Amino acid sequence: MSKVVCKTKRIGGGFGGKETRSAFIAAIAAVPSYHLNRPVKLTLDRDIDMMITGQRHSFLGKYKVGFANNGKVLALDLGIFNNAGNSLDLSLAILERAMFHSDNVYEIPNVRVNGRVCFTNFPSNTAFRGFGGPQGMLITENWIQRIAVEVKKRPEEIREINFISDGTLLHYGQLIEHCTLDRLWNELKSSCDWLKAQQEVEQFNLHNRWKKRGVAMIPTKFGISFTTKFMNQAGALVQIYTDGTVLVTHGGVEMGQGLHTKVAQIAASSFNIPLSSVFISETSTDKVPNASPTAASASSDMYGAAVLDACEQIKARMEPITSRHNFSSFSELVNACYMERIDLSAHGFYITPDVGFDWGTGKGSPFRYFTYGAAFAEVEIDTLTGDFHTRRADVYLDLGYSLNPAIDVGQIEGAFVQGLGWVALEELKWGDAAHKWIRPGCLYTCGPGSYKIPSVTDVPFKFHVSLLKVSIMILLPRYLGVLGCPKELKIFTIQCMVFEHIKWGAPNAKAIHSSKAVGEPPFFLASAVFFAIKDAIIAARAEVGCNEWFPLDNPATPERIRMACTDEFTKPFVDSDFHPKLSV
Ligand code: MTE
Repeated sequence: MSKVVCKTKRIGGGFGGKETRSAFIAAIAAVPSYHLNRPVKLTLDRDIDMMITGQRHSFLGKYKVGFANNGKVLALDLGIFNNAGNSLDLSLAILERAMFHSDNVYEIPNVRVNGRVCFTNFPSNTAFRGFGGPQGMLITENWIQRIAVEVKKRPEEIREINFISDGTLLHYGQLIEHCTLDRLWNELKSSCDWLKAQQEVEQFNLHNRWKKRGVAMIPTKFGISFTTKFMNQAGALVQIYTDGTVLVTHGGVEMGQGLHTKVAQIAASSFNIPLSSVFISETSTDKVPNASPTAASASSDMYGAAVLDACEQIKARMEPITSRHNFSSFSELVNACYMERIDLSAHGFYITPDVGFDWGTGKGSPFRYFTYGAAFAEVEIDTLTGDFHTRRADVYLDLGYSLNPAIDVGQIEGAFVQGLGWVALEELKWGDAAHKWIRPGCLYTCGPGSYKIPSVTDVPFKFHVSLLKVSIMILLPRYLGVLGCPKELKIFTIQCMVFEHIKWGAPNAKAIHSSKAVGEPPFFLASAVFFAIKDAIIAARAEVGCNEWFPLDNPATPERIRMACTDEFTKPFVDSDFHPKLSV
């Protein structure tokens, strides 16, 4: 490993698919390269890539849930199964994350979760944004929705009364602290005008037989850290040159998520120099060895902290010179240090503290902290064709003191639309014994002709993304009551307000500069579209007197939507548990 240097300037998007599967392609290219003693480049055709690289794992959830008449959940007995394909790859870790997330944001006093990885004749499935978390949470939201049908309430009411809060002990023993779920939920509720949105949808549905609208609000909590403890380590190398520029190298890979920008910002602010003076050239194994995968959304937390560690070391060495007199520029200071033979290069290191989980006892704290979010969606479906569009989506995320709100909002928008593909568009179809023209276990939907990914027209017509903060405007009414008081008290009160505002932002003490990880957490929030579709289907079915619960598998494709909208045309042909051909 010390003789082979792997370098990556950036990758054109990975989303998990290149976490382990890239190794096979690299190995295949390395053999001819070794024998011919020349560079070899291997580029897969799109269809070959889709057929062999592996996909997000499909999951099956079997649940038994105990609940009170008001919808309060008392117990959950859950079995989850994931489709690993023909090798283990990351399937076990993905199953584990699904198990950790199978409570989503709900306090459940008694939980038993059993997970099974299934060995099948499919190409090996692999990591994809969320890494099992979204699948675990989707199963949860399905049984929450089922409780709602049983007790004849809206699912959002069931969600609210079961929310976790500070002090909740999760099913694997981790204590919930600094929970911002309630604040996010309430801000979302007022931003989408929840009651009005429901009433408008009801009115629309009353007056339309073949088009139906639906709404849903979905919360999420995503655990930040690798659940495999040793992976929570990060290295960095920071080098200052005599012209005052800084070269940063760290173990993380840039894939469009803005990691290099965030890390460069951290170095620039540490040295108090412009961002343009900091350069990240590439990720390279001869600069930072033994790096973990750039995954689990934690890279800016970890590499940011490792870089900060290196910067602090150099600053400590420079301190005797810095304090000697006022330098007019950073390069002047650096030059002075150089003349004094001060080492201007440092290796930084970070380990995520206080994480660990014991699979023997089933207890521990696998996550450093949680990123919380909530989303609202309104959809309209055509009950005769199954076509749908998302009329509106509002997304709220708590990202602490965001390192870079522009990047983070882009991550949320991207994750939501990508998640929308997962819940409503992207369906994999496989050969099976009944369809001999595709070999069993072979992928049929291996290109844009048969596999539909989100396009610009699938973006919600109205799309609002917000980061959690409590503005002075919101706090104001809390203090208006005292405005009838003497003037001095008023001034004091206004000072308190400003202080409260600062305190009431959403800082996260557990990560670099009080920020929070963003990459994967918003992905699951697109399930608000799925449950809004289901809400619209419920309205369609109600018109023909079908009010009982019905299954709706992910993704809610037009085929599934159409068949679930039971009417005189479908009744002779399909049951309520309709299953599309070739789909797993
Ligand atoms: N954003 C872009 N543009 N491209 C990507 O490949 N991957 C996502 C997310 N955002 C990805 C992305 C996934 S799956 C993860 S785990 C995180 O970025 C990884 O980077 P981070 O740890 O720096 O957030």
